[in-house]
Amino acid sequence: MKNGLILAIESSCDETAAAIIRNGHEIVSNVVASQIESHKRFGGVVPEIASRHHVEQITMVIEEALAQAKLKPEDLDAVAVTEGPGLVGALLIGINAAKAFAFANNLPIVGVHHIAGHIYANALVQPMEFPLLALVVSGGHTELVYMKEHGSFEVIGETRDDAAGEAYDKVARVLNLPYPGGPRIDQLAHEGEEAVPFPRVWLEEDSYDFSFSGLKSAVINYKHNMDQRGEDISPAAVAKGFQESVVEVLTAKTLRAARQYRVKQVIAAGGVAANKGLRASLEAVFSKEGIPFFVPPLKLCTDNAAMIGAAAMPMLEAGVRGNLTMNGRPGMELKSWV
Ligand code: KG4
Ligand code: ZN
Repeated sequence: MKNGLILAIESSCDETAAAIIRNGHEIVSNVVASQIESHKRFGGVVPEIASRHHVEQITMVIEEALAQAKLKPEDLDAVAVTEGPGLVGALLIGINAAKAFAFANNLPIVGVHHIAGHIYANALVQPMEFPLLALVVSGGHTELVYMKEHGSFEVIGETRDDAAGEAYDKVARVLNLPYPGGPRIDQLAHEGEEAVPFPRVWLEEDSYDFSFSGLKSAVINYKHNMDQRGEDISPAAVAKGFQESVVEVLTAKTLRAARQYRVKQVIAAGGVAANKGLRASLEAVFSKEGIPFFVPPLKLCTDNAAMIGAAAMPMLEAGVRGNLTMNGRPGMELKSWV
């Protein structure tokens, strides 16, 4: 690699994003065009609308990433793009743009797993130390991932039903809060003084899996019962109670796994890692435990292309290459590349 420069593209859900990363850890430019405003009135992401926006935005976003970096295509060494998982129509827009760019500029291309991207967002902040445990919490995923080295992923626990972010978004709908609900619930939870007591779902004693659908139902039932009794609910108390349940379970399971696997570093990743309550709770337990804990700044927790560029670097170093037959893989599994 002459300059260590990767152009990265991400379009798996509702953000059209391009970034340029140097040496796998330095953000040269990072452009994100959010579609949140367009999906808000539907209360969630509408796949067809997402694809249409990606088509409209992708060229501009890539050009903006190059312009902000003051670089030309010939300065680059490789193109990286999210290959999956995600909405297939959305993924394809980024993949086709990446393939066209790679072909036109004679650059190698590499397809990155979206969750590997979220995990590697941490490499943009400080070096990753192995063995490492990653708590991945987003709109589509809730996973505990053990990494013994770069490119090695072992999913030791995952959700059996809803993802944490999905539960946040659904509870927000019950409370009539706008999409995406996570940030609003987080804010409300901090305004609440009382917390409505909701259950904690631990599953089997030794399990690192999660389940959030029962908690979501408990919130819906609570609202329903209060409505039937003609009583008003306190949205802040519901948000606080819900968040306490999610945060307690995520924190406890992450701590138990970190101890069992004797990791040197714990990191949090994904949109829900932007949650203030979760960050504070993880920071507190791991500082007490004496295990270094990191979480990327908020804008690197939610979907972006910088994280895709960060994950692509160790892949390229390991000799992983895609080609121009690459396709969107909506159900792609997180596999090790070493
Ligand atoms: O990683 P992400 O941007 O997209 C996916 O790959 O899914 O995560 C989006 C999810 C949404 O469910 C959103 O409500 C949630 O992250 N989220 C939060 C917060 N900020 C975003 N959830 C809880 N607290 C937050 N502060
Ligand atoms: Zn994501």
